[in-house]
Amino acid sequence: MIKTGKISEVKENVRKWKKAGLSIGLVPTMGYLHEGHASLIKKAREENDKVIVSDFVNPIQFGPKEDLGTYPRDFEADCKLCEGIGADLIFHPEPSEMYEGDFHSYVGVNTLSEGLCGKTRPIHFNGVCTVVTKLFNITEADRAYFGQKDAQQLAIVRRMVRDLNYNITIVGCPIIREEDGLAKSSRNTYLKPDEREKATILHKALSEGERMVRDGETDANKVVKVVRDIIESEPLAKVDYVEIVDWNELQKVEKIDGPILMAVAVYIGKVRLIDNFIVENSMVIEMV
Ligand code: PAF
Repeated sequence: MIKTGKISEVKENVRKWKKAGLSIGLVPTMGYLHEGHASLIKKAREENDKVIVSDFVNPIQFGPKEDLGTYPRDFEADCKLCEGIGADLIFHPEPSEMYEGDFHSYVGVNTLSEGLCGKTRPIHFNGVCTVVTKLFNITEADRAYFGQKDAQQLAIVRRMVRDLNYNITIVGCPIIREEDGLAKSSRNTYLKPDEREKATILHKALSEGERMVRDGETDANKVVKVVRDIIESEPLAKVDYVEIVDWNELQKVEKIDGPILMAVAVYIGKVRLIDNFIVENSMVIEMV
């Protein structure tokens, strides 16, 4: 597996691969890889001749009070995991390689970036769209793999690709969970043991929401109330948002009659966790 922090070296390999007619799959990550990332890399491995994993904690998607400085990192372990799955290249640039001093160009998707996590993280999705654009251009990937755990990110990247005619297919992959239902996340490591235990409340609440929708409930506010009440029954939990939005525009809905995303963001102690399920055509596709 090639390990490099240089854009020029990635491009050199890409040029060679493209010349040989090989397809390229990209898995963009911020490192500290877990089984959720592994599932994306495996899927990319199955569907492409060459697999590139980017491992970059992207500074421009963090707000000034967010956890950029403390975001967990373990490049050696990341390399092992990628090598084990058979990735061909891991790209691990320094921030200065990605953003030169006179960097001024940003990419953003309006409307879809404004609700849900965008309310408390106003610059986040522009940072994501910008780095993802750079990664698409550097790797010339045919396919890029994103987890449904970050459902708003997935919807925004898909829209960006459609609106701006990027030559890439976005592949959304299901949420990978711990045995007790907690969605896998690099940030789970921030949870103290008692918080880790209480964090399962997100999954419990969403499971109930899913059950209601499965049983035919179409009143979105009713489902939101039940899910919110369950989460708030846990004293360590503080709701940031509990919302049902339509899965295309990410705008709140009153009635569930088309594809919807039910998404929650909850503080457990000081740790902010997100989770969700998606219902398309009245069929729950992500089992919580
Ligand atoms: O989902 C993530 O880990 C990041 O937002 C991404 C897509 C790698 C961009 O930095």
